[in-house]
Amino acid sequence: MALTRLTLSQFRNYESLRLDLESRPVVLTGANGAGKTNLLEAISMLAPGRGLRSAPFAELVRAGGGATSRQWGVAAELIGPQGETRLGTSWTDPEYSTGNGGGRQVKIDGVLQKSSGALSRHVRVTWLTPSMDRLFTGPAADRRRFLDRLVLSFDPDHGTRVQTFEKVMRERNRLLEQGSSNAAWLSGLEQQMAEAGIAIAAARSAAVNELAALLARTGKASESGHFPWVEISLEGELERQISELPAVEVEEKYRRMLAESRAQDAAAGRTLHGPHRSDLNVVHGPKGIAASYCSTGEQKALLVGIVLAHARVIRAAFEGFAPLLLLDEISAHLDENRRNGLFDELMELGAQAWMTGTDLSLFSALGDRAQYLAMDDGSVKRN
Ligand SMILES: Nc1ncnc2c1ncn2[C@@H]1O[C@H](COP(=O)(O)OP(=O)(O)O)[C@@H](O)[C@H]1O
Ligand SMILES: [Mg+2]
Repeated sequence: MALTRLTLSQFRNYESLRLDLESRPVVLTGANGAGKTNLLEAISMLAPGRGLRSAPFAELVRAGGGATSRQWGVAAELIGPQGETRLGTSWTDPEYSTGNGGGRQVKIDGVLQKSSGALSRHVRVTWLTPSMDRLFTGPAADRRRFLDRLVLSFDPDHGTRVQTFEKVMRERNRLLEQGSSNAAWLSGLEQQMAEAGIAIAAARSAAVNELAALLARTGKASESGHFPWVEISLEGELERQISELPAVEVEEKYRRMLAESRAQDAAAGRTLHGPHRSDLNVVHGPKGIAASYCSTGEQKALLVGIVLAHARVIRAAFEGFAPLLLLDEISAHLDENRRNGLFDELMELGAQAWMTGTDLSLFSALGDRAQYLAMDDGSVKRN
């Protein structure tokens, strides 16, 4: 997959920008605050979801654009599995909108789509950002989000499932907090939680199994050793049961567990059991130690390994088209060997990787395998 044109309007620090591109990887350089991450974020909006910063859409509107233009837009021409496609997404502040009510709009080849989910037939975007540097040492919630984003590309319905579960769980928590004794209502919610919960656990297990197998194969086979092979596994009650028992049984057990733990959950002010408590375990293969014990650079290398393996899975599912890869500040924490190893892997993958850095010299090993853009406060020059 490759973008051949990218257009931004009123997006973050960009008033308007148009880039014509080749399908080679792209290197973006510029000082802090030049707009490198903003540009990657704009590309991430071409996929369903909230993009690589998970920012509210309203935050993306360029500040200082005036009260009449509470709107941003990103459009692109893409070469992908469906041939050449024009993608467009925009957001209008509902309070300033005239007519259609505002919100997010998605167009594919000029045709307005019912939902942003339609984009996933055409484009896949994955990313690695500096905020993920703490993924292995930070809260489990971040790893779960990372995991669920991985799962999404195996199973496009996964996002809806997770949202449903969380919504129903919040409703049950609220009822319990109010001391409700409406057993029928609670049972109904718990039934929905059990159904969604088991589907979440099953989708996660399937995706992690597939990814783990690929990581083991490619990792151990790789002579280069730029990226250590990685062992990944799931830690979670439902995920463990799902590999041992028929799904209907796990669902029934979880439903009963919820019903029996109402008092406990009410006292705790939250639901103590379920897929929202699961975690992704990552182990440095050659060393056999948990990722959280690894050095910062080693952790980065493990993450890169997972992201590259994931990209290979997507490529296989997408008729040989690797996803767009957004690698923000990618050279930070990677030594020269690993950096050059990464460049080679990206070429092998055939991905249009978008890499940012403050210093052009970090990318010199790429030579003419990449195209180079220099950014300066909302404007871009080729060099
Ligand atoms: N909604 C917005 N409107 C205008 N400028 C913004 C908006 N959001 C962020 N910025 C500006 O964008 C700049 C940061 O851009 P960023 O892409 O993160 O820089 P970097 O090149 O370091 O990655 C900051 O100067 C910030 O003030
Ligand atoms: Mg940045």
